[in-house]
Amino acid sequence: MSLANVNVEKNYLNRPKALGITVRRLQFNPKKIKRHYFANSPFMSHLLTALSSTFPIGEQFFVNSVRNVRDKVTDPKLQAQIAAFIGQEAMHSKAHTEFNDAWRRDDYQLDRFQAWLAKQDDTLRKAHPKLQLALTCAFEHFTAMLGGYILKHPEILSTLDEDAMKLWVWHAIEEIEHRSVAFDVYQEVYGDDRIRRLLMRSVTTGFASLTFYATSRLIWQDKWKSIPKLGGNLFGVYLVSKMLLQLIPEYLSYYQADFHPAKHDYTKLVNYWKARMADEYGMISFQEETASKIYS
Ligand SMILES: [Fe+2]
Ligand SMILES: [Fe+2]
Repeated sequence: MSLANVNVEKNYLNRPKALGITVRRLQFNPKKIKRHYFANSPFMSHLLTALSSTFPIGEQFFVNSVRNVRDKVTDPKLQAQIAAFIGQEAMHSKAHTEFNDAWRRDDYQLDRFQAWLAKQDDTLRKAHPKLQLALTCAFEHFTAMLGGYILKHPEILSTLDEDAMKLWVWHAIEEIEHRSVAFDVYQEVYGDDRIRRLLMRSVTTGFASLTFYATSRLIWQDKWKSIPKLGGNLFGVYLVSKMLLQLIPEYLSYYQADFHPAKHDYTKLVNYWKARMADEYGMISFQEETASKIYS
């Protein structure tokens, strides 16, 4: 082996790792997921599917907003975290595209909505990179917060069938793992707290209206099967109202001057779910991780 090759190899080994952010491949079968998969509630199931229908385009936007300014980041650890963040979001887009396609094969129409979303995405990508990144920071606060919330409620998650469980828990865990990346990039490159907080207001109203619109569309498309399940729907409305109320303090923490996503500690929760996904659901990527921790 030449000296140059040895050096390349050594540089590679010395490269900082994105500690705590692991890119995992999801193996699941979206076709096995039943129509009203969440708490037997059409309302809740359609709400989650509505969110899923926005993910492939939305998560690509998040990735792009970080890529836009990646060359301005000098911290090698943060560079490694950016790479892991991009890897995780790319896997999420792929998995949710498969999930959405399974719904399309059923009798749902997601195409018109996604075409509209793609147009909004085109417009937003023309905005200043700082604004795009501030939007991503706000959305990442929401995804970590919602991910944390569902992981804190195993009694609700237990109503999901196996493949739905794998998708949503895997995604929630990874959203929590990479919750600080876009924020840290924004702080290093721009650090403008006024714009960060201002855009959270727009994202809150935008995200709420988008979710409401997309959920209503799905309920309407499935009206004959959805609306008669009154009990399931009322339970879903109760769950969402309770969640929104309980999340207020965490949501508001974003407006504090000393906010940092890592201040919300999810370590125990994430470890509990990683172990459960490895043992109970046989998810290979989590099993490998547990095994490497035992032997390291
Ligand atoms: Fe994601
Ligand atoms: Fe994310």
